[in-house]
Amino acid sequence: MTKGRVLLRGVMKSFGAVDVIKGVDLEIAPGELTVFVGPSGCGKSTLLRLVSGLELPTGGSIMIGDRDVTCVHPSERGIAMVFQSYALYPHMSVAENMGFGLKIAGLPKAVIKEKVAKAAEILQLTPLLDRKPRALSGGQRQRVAIGRCIVREPEVFLFDEPLSNLDAALRGQMRVEIARLHAKLGATMIYVTHDQVEAMTLATRIVVLNAGRIEQIGAPIELYRHPANLFVAGFIGSPRMNFMDGIVEAAEADAVHVRLNAATLRLPRHEGDVKPGAKVTVGIRPEHFRVGSAVDAGDDQAVEFDSVIDLVERLGGETLAHLRMPSLSDGVLVVKISGDIPLRIGTGLRVGVRLAQCHLFDADGRAVGASAARVAAVAA
Ligand SMILES: Nc1ncnc2c1ncn2[C@@H]1O[C@H](COP(=O)(O)OP(=O)(O)OP(=O)(O)O)[C@@H](O)[C@H]1O
Ligand SMILES: [Mg+2]
Repeated sequence: MTKGRVLLRGVMKSFGAVDVIKGVDLEIAPGELTVFVGPSGCGKSTLLRLVSGLELPTGGSIMIGDRDVTCVHPSERGIAMVFQSYALYPHMSVAENMGFGLKIAGLPKAVIKEKVAKAAEILQLTPLLDRKPRALSGGQRQRVAIGRCIVREPEVFLFDEPLSNLDAALRGQMRVEIARLHAKLGATMIYVTHDQVEAMTLATRIVVLNAGRIEQIGAPIELYRHPANLFVAGFIGSPRMNFMDGIVEAAEADAVHVRLNAATLRLPRHEGDVKPGAKVTVGIRPEHFRVGSAVDAGDDQAVEFDSVIDLVERLGGETLAHLRMPSLSDGVLVVKISGDIPLRIGTGLRVGVRLAQCHLFDADGRAVGASAARVAAVAA
């Protein structure tokens, strides 16, 4: 049974001479919530519009369920789409807005009423059914827009940055509601966002796009732990991973010795081909640094460095310390630490990191070592 499955094969889209989607292969399993992330202009909305039928591909094919819908009209695809701007009819009540599509489709009044009531209950809009959109908050309006989709019982829900017009608090609240909605309906959903937290928390799988191509597909935690390349490593995780330039000094079966600015790290690895003299990049996430004493004395799996505090950003529960760490890099590294540690600009701070938490990338930006081994296993 493939109801709710979405299958893209070699999908391409050009606008005139500009290639925007450059060959995308993707299978979305029924009931998955797939999140498209990537920098502005990478083609997220275009890819979603290709699934919806608002754009037609210049190459490849698209299937929804068992049907090839590549050239099928949007209204015949069994999809429903929620945009950033909710565009409700101002003169209609919430109930009328939600039922309008069904009315146009010619469904009997009683059926429409029942479907609207059910969707309103799921979205907690029941007390608001008689209100006009102008008497609703932004979050409530966006829920009405989602309700309009639910009543149509689509095979696939498509969301294009549905929460980005809302303020931070409301966005957090709506994010939780969308997660609940997905759990309750069990429907296939494709969700485009810029927001790291939305991507990490909502997604069954994340698709990282860059310049019209897929960089990596995986469960959120898998992309976080095993980014396949520098692009994904820098894109998933906030604040972003610190990158340091290095040269391979020696490569053993189970470890790579990498010379950074003034220190050599012996990084464990299981696989990957790097030769002495090769240029590499070492990546360490801000949250993987520990303030000195947190590294066990004599722990040969960890290393410590002296740093000088360049800047301090206190977020409350945690603090971002920008540190000069000459042994690792000429630049400034960002370290995320507990919020209550006293820090003064210009003073020294000793920080440590476990070697197993360092990432290694070759000169082409591909992950070497544990990450590469894992990616190969996933691809096989
Ligand atoms: N109708 C069009 N004609 C020409 N170029 C287009 C058209 N629609 C999109 N593009 C171009 O295609 C590229 C991808 O656009 P798209 O809207 O898919 O990006 P996006 O990843 O959704 O970006 P954002 O995060 O800013 O919404 C952009 O460079 C855009 O200018
Ligand atoms: Mg977009």
